[in-house]
Amino acid sequence: MSIRTLDDLLAEGVSGRRVLVRADLNVPLDKQTGAITDDGRIRAVLPTLGALVEAGAKVVVCSHLGRPKGAPDPQFSLSPVADRLGELLGAPVRFATDTVGDSARSTVADLADGQVALLENLRFNAGETSKDEAERGAFADQLAAFGDAYVDDAFGAVHRKHASVYDVPARLPHVAGRLVLREVEVLSKLTSEPERPYVVVLGGSKVSDKLAVIEALLPTVDRLLIGGGMCFTFLKAQGLEVGTSLLEKDMVETCRNLLERSEGKIMLPVDVVVADAFAPDAAHDTVRVDGIPSHRLGLDVGPETVAGFAAALSQAKTIFWNGPMGVFEMAAFAAGTRGIAEAITKADAFSVVGGGDSAAAVRALGLDESSFGHISTGGGASLEYLEGKTLPGIAALEN
Ligand code: 3PG
Ligand code: MG
Repeated sequence: MSIRTLDDLLAEGVSGRRVLVRADLNVPLDKQTGAITDDGRIRAVLPTLGALVEAGAKVVVCSHLGRPKGAPDPQFSLSPVADRLGELLGAPVRFATDTVGDSARSTVADLADGQVALLENLRFNAGETSKDEAERGAFADQLAAFGDAYVDDAFGAVHRKHASVYDVPARLPHVAGRLVLREVEVLSKLTSEPERPYVVVLGGSKVSDKLAVIEALLPTVDRLLIGGGMCFTFLKAQGLEVGTSLLEKDMVETCRNLLERSEGKIMLPVDVVVADAFAPDAAHDTVRVDGIPSHRLGLDVGPETVAGFAAALSQAKTIFWNGPMGVFEMAAFAAGTRGIAEAITKADAFSVVGGGDSAAAVRALGLDESSFGHISTGGGASLEYLEGKTLPGIAALEN
């Protein structure tokens, strides 16, 4: 990889220089209180920020949060993230109430050496995500004016061709931060000669989101275990009735075709937890997959499925897991995700957890993060990496 790294930049000396850091501080917020429910992505960027602070840089951090529509939207403000980042760094973080406006300009101008500022949500500006090169470029010009060098540490966003990810590095000396380097190092182990058996567990709600990665992984993996909402489209493809479970009708034929081509590598649930409604207190039972009642919906995989998946995982030498097995946010439907997560930690394998949701599940279920080989901060990004796609944010660092 012909990418310059943070160490290269530090070796040049950054004391007194303004370093613009693109981070992925897109953390989940509690819908009622707005509080940060999982600060994993903030903690993941501390090694890079800490090194820059220590070296005396003026550190200007930028990020997106959620998907605001190109204009300010208070529910997506990064202000609570600035507070949390300050707590974790042990020094206050100056928060700019706009991204490239007066507040940002004066905040950056007032930074002392070794101080950190966070700009308001990049996506409050239409230029950030614009498909129009000129519009993106104009926004990138404004951002680039805040730095003498650029560090990309936003692994979760490297698959986005956005101004802060793709266009800013074309305008400034650029390097990969510690998190981006570590993520790429780990994921490249999975794409080149993974130790076998290589077992992948996929969950989450939609087959359509995972289709490309399933296609890409099928020739490579030894086993592909499928749970989560998307398993019902596969079960339907096997001719089973799935009641009112999540179903992507237009994907049934595709799933049938995948099952035919999979040479028996794909394992599907044999039992599921079905409920009367999508609610934490809904009446529920475990049934075999050929006995799903027509008026009920599946919200988790069942214990026999967990046992079968766990047996496959216990043989593995390499594991990649993306996507919860059920609605783990509701206690009644968390056992499948917990069971699979525990089986992964028990396996004598190199394990990678991919994805904001699965990573959040690991922490929400109180599992020990250190019992996994690596917990990626990127959901879409790690999947696209495994698909072998060119990631705009990585390509931009290579140039
Ligand atoms: C993520 O949460 O997957 C990343 O932060 C990217 O966010 P996005 O999917 O809204 O681009
Ligand atoms: Mg995403």
